[in-house]
Amino acid sequence: MDKAIIAGVTPIGVDLEKGKTYFFCTCGRSSNQPFCDGGHKGTSFTPLQFKVEENAKKFLCTCKCSSNQPFCDGSHNQLNKDQIGS
Ligand code: FES
Repeated sequence: MDKAIIAGVTPIGVDLEKGKTYFFCTCGRSSNQPFCDGGHKGTSFTPLQFKVEENAKKFLCTCKCSSNQPFCDGSHNQLNKDQIGS
């Protein structure tokens, strides 16, 4: 099983549109965080497809540790220095 890369240590605020389909990067390899750019190819990861019910600004996870992906749940606050940069 591949390990997700910590792409960032703070969430990214994104203005999301109601009904639009988004593909959240779960592997951490995308250069277009927090969204998938195809960088997961060759890994066991696939992007997480999601939509929102209303136009809204949401904070999306970049550390890839959230239990509520694609949304931030504060897990980045639990990262230690050894995990960051791995
Ligand atoms: S690049 Fe990370 S899931 Fe596609």
